[in-house]
Amino acid sequence: MTDVIDGDAVAADIRTEIADCVETLTDAGVEPGLATVLMSDDPASETYVSMKQRDCEEVGIEGIHVEVDPEAPAEELYATIDELNADDAVHGILVQLPVPDHVDEREVLRRISPAKDVDGFHPENVGRLVAGNARFKPCTPHGVLKLLEAYDVETEGADAVVVGRSDIVGKPMANLLIQKAPQGNATVTVCHSRTDDLTSHTRNADIVIAAVGIPEFIDGSMIQEGATVIDVGVNRVEADDGEGTTLVGDVEYDSAADVAGAITPVPGGVGPMTRAMLLYNTVKAAGLQTDVDVELP
Ligand code: GUN
Repeated sequence: MTDVIDGDAVAADIRTEIADCVETLTDAGVEPGLATVLMSDDPASETYVSMKQRDCEEVGIEGIHVEVDPEAPAEELYATIDELNADDAVHGILVQLPVPDHVDEREVLRRISPAKDVDGFHPENVGRLVAGNARFKPCTPHGVLKLLEAYDVETEGADAVVVGRSDIVGKPMANLLIQKAPQGNATVTVCHSRTDDLTSHTRNADIVIAAVGIPEFIDGSMIQEGATVIDVGVNRVEADDGEGTTLVGDVEYDSAADVAGAITPVPGGVGPMTRAMLLYNTVKAAGLQTDVDVELP
């Protein structure tokens, strides 16, 4: 029987524990605050940011939302970040990516104070992660580790294949899985859209993490019997019946579920975990900035 990994349920448990952390902070006189910044009129980005704000409200984090006109000069976004860096009520800052082409994304990530960088994308935080001394683990790969933990998927000594090499998912995912740490100690191969004979890698993997951004790129013929399949992809495609659109992952779910030992669905797998881990990083940031001990899940 294939285990369907229930990200909604695991994320709900984590949110309950985070709400307790928020209470610890507020009892100590600290109201944790997360600022989201949107410089885009892409409807998907707007939706993601509004979901993050809703999540904050649910656990008692103060959500602050700032919109910057996508046509405005880059300096307007940089000035917004500078203001939020200086604001003591803001413990975490997330600038929704992508930013418009005329904005230098590297400068955006470098500009956010590393102490408030709840995405974990600032070069200092990337360096700390690689060195095995993470301050903030990026939300999606961190959420994947929590799913593996919740479903007792052994990573120690396992062959893990990460398909995708993005700064947001693939690279930090691989770095976390190789660390000498719980949910680490895996033997990791990083593949991507240009890998020759991808199947020769994925077919040998105990754990496949698909984060390549191509709809249903990986099917059941590429999966080893009993493997754990984690699908990070969120791709909007035309529905089979030609009526509107539907969400699919980077994995062809039905054929992969036939052979996998455990698999995440899309939606309801990794997505809710990414959102929960943003709340996690926000309470961690608030605790670190105010010297309040919070017991994180
Ligand atoms: N856009 C897509 N994923 C992410 C993410 O994890 N963080 C930010 N800031 N933007 C994103």
